[in-house]
Amino acid sequence: MTLTKLLIAAALAAAVSTGPAFAADALAPQTRENLQAAMHGEAFANLKYRRYAEVAREGGNETLAKLFEDSANVEANEHFAREADALKLDGTNAANLLDAMAGEKYENKTMYIGFADQAEKAGDLKTAALFRQIAADEGDHYARYKAAHDQLAGK
Ligand SMILES: [Fe+2]
Ligand SMILES: [Fe+2]
Repeated sequence: MTLTKLLIAAALAAAVSTGPAFAADALAPQTRENLQAAMHGEAFANLKYRRYAEVAREGGNETLAKLFEDSANVEANEHFAREADALKLDGTNAANLLDAMAGEKYENKTMYIGFADQAEKAGDLKTAALFRQIAADEGDHYARYKAAHDQLAGK
């Protein structure tokens, strides 16, 4: 080993030993949380920009439609995708199904029911009905994921 390589190795060892108390490839909890929040924002921007592109296209403004679509593609295919890679989002099929089930169950049993109750209290009855319909859909999604998970597990 040359002196330069030795110095680099020593510097790397020092950097590792003074770093945070996580394994080399593990992320700090706050970083994971921030990646999740960023992915929510990117996914939302992707779908929102697609709607904006539709509006522009329907109004005959193809240039603006393309601008929104180009941005939407970057949000999904670069920003979301790279953040998902950083988070190591993709587990096994079984783990992915369990994760999906947890999300759908929360939306079905808790989130949309709470939103519907709040909308009803506020007098927004149409929106309350929408939340209840979507809650039911999420229950269907949960059931389909659970059936797939059971099948995978040989139950
Ligand atoms: Fe982005
Ligand atoms: Fe769903």
